[in-house]
Amino acid sequence: MPLKPEDLRSHRWFGREAMRTYNHRSRMAQLGYERSDYAGKPVIAILNTWSDINPCHSHFKQRVEEIKRGVIRAGGFPLELPAMSIAEPFVKPSPLLYRNLLAMEAEELLRCHPIDGAVLMGGCDKTTPGLIMGATSMGLPFAFMPAGPMLRGSFEGQTLGSGSDMFKHWAEVRAGTLSTEQWEGVLSGIARSPGHCMTMGTASTMTSAAEALGLTLPGAASIPAPDSRHALMAVATGRRIVEMVWDDLRPARILGAEAFDNAVTTVLALGGSTNALVHLIAMARRAGVMLDLDRFDMLARRTPLIANLRPAGKYLMEDFFYAGGLPALLQRLRGLLHTGAPTINGRTLGDNIAEARVFDDDVILPLDRPLVAEGSLAVLRGNLAPNGAVIKPAAAEPRFMRHRGRAVVFKDYADLQARIDAPDLEVDADSVLVLQNAGPLGGPGMPEWGQLPIPKKLLAQGVRDMLRISDCRMSGTSFGACVLHVAPEAFVGGPLALVHSGDWIEIDVAARRLHLDVGDEELARRREYWRPPEPRYVRGFGALYAQQVTQADEGCDFTLLARAGEVPEPDIY
Ligand code: FES
Ligand code: MG
Repeated sequence: MPLKPEDLRSHRWFGREAMRTYNHRSRMAQLGYERSDYAGKPVIAILNTWSDINPCHSHFKQRVEEIKRGVIRAGGFPLELPAMSIAEPFVKPSPLLYRNLLAMEAEELLRCHPIDGAVLMGGCDKTTPGLIMGATSMGLPFAFMPAGPMLRGSFEGQTLGSGSDMFKHWAEVRAGTLSTEQWEGVLSGIARSPGHCMTMGTASTMTSAAEALGLTLPGAASIPAPDSRHALMAVATGRRIVEMVWDDLRPARILGAEAFDNAVTTVLALGGSTNALVHLIAMARRAGVMLDLDRFDMLARRTPLIANLRPAGKYLMEDFFYAGGLPALLQRLRGLLHTGAPTINGRTLGDNIAEARVFDDDVILPLDRPLVAEGSLAVLRGNLAPNGAVIKPAAAEPRFMRHRGRAVVFKDYADLQARIDAPDLEVDADSVLVLQNAGPLGGPGMPEWGQLPIPKKLLAQGVRDMLRISDCRMSGTSFGACVLHVAPEAFVGGPLALVHSGDWIEIDVAARRLHLDVGDEELARRREYWRPPEPRYVRGFGALYAQQVTQADEGCDFTLLARAGEVPEPDIY
């Protein structure tokens, strides 16, 4: 039974005969709207994470008009509400610090205004999980409209990928094999259109996860931002959200455990960013689904990596779109998905991908020719990471799948920067670089420092990968034998805080083991001398964050927010 106009949430603001309602009408008139423009119609919030400093969302000023057009054509009333943009390259000290602030903002924007449904406009890394977490907690019908990847990068006839090729070429600059002019050419060629990073970084990982969760229209996540089909998708999303409101199609009807299994499986098949572990766990718990690291590991053991996309593979998102995009990949993965899971267009995931086809078998690989047969992510545990840590084996040199080496410890990032290139640093190609105090509280916000730089003197010897361990994150476009998200973090006294330079560390990815080869008695003795570092913030949002944030294995959400449950609707007198 579709809703009636009197059932709309916005009716409480606009429909009743009360003094306040007249004031609302007067103020809508002040904005230039007649009563018939909005009364009795689904009022659709468009949460727009556009800003002057977010290059990934620079087309959102235009796209929001297209979404509005779709909303109006379907008989709704659109209202654009700006939300914090979190531009990944610029927001310091770490964009993750602000994901929960965006989530709170999204939730409260929807709660306090006369809104019946929402379109969420995001894509640059943290904006996708932030918006979805908030809108999920609010519980109104919503559709996610991904920013779309930018076009392929290009330099001297080579294709460049966001992040990955920046890191690669920077290593060449450091090794003295790339000129300053060439480096300038890389900088201008690597990001040459609107849209988010076009490698399988966090942005493409999370927008694809949103599609696999059923939160976008089919195919939305793969369309390059400047493509005219992206504009058409915006219009279609605007139309659809109006129908969703009439159908009362709330996130609670879409976001079950099966949807999250689908999202995790999709991320694994894409070779997606390790950031997805933190974000999907946080998103799931907002929906009341207790997703954990073990579930990732379990699904990783059976999911082949079949997207031949950088950094694990060869191609970029533009190629992926031409090869059929996410629906084609999901079709190939069908046997591993819960195809009965509902999606926002009112059909199941299985229905949505039924007609999808792969147009290039080298971009979306057949199941019997995967890039990695299984285990594209692995969750490690041991005395160094009792609550888990993660590695992306596909992005590492195979010799680090089983390795023993001596720790070279940096107590924080400043220490790392000060000493990593020192000629007298005691380090060789088998050493294990360890970074402490870079976690959720220590970073703060788990900055993407997990791909610790290779010491210059080893670079000069041709070393391009080393085993690295930290409690921070790594950009989804990074690569290397990097053990990340060590929980609990050093800053709160996790065992990572107790490692000394010269200690032996062992990793065995097949056994999912990360071990600090120091006796329990010695560790207990070191713990007695450990003192918690000074808090990073004493006031402001940082202090609130420090009080509330959970560890990486729990999604780094705020304790107060990290559960399903209701906040009362505002009273309107
Ligand atoms: Fe925005 Fe990478 S910088 S997605
Ligand atoms: Mg990133």
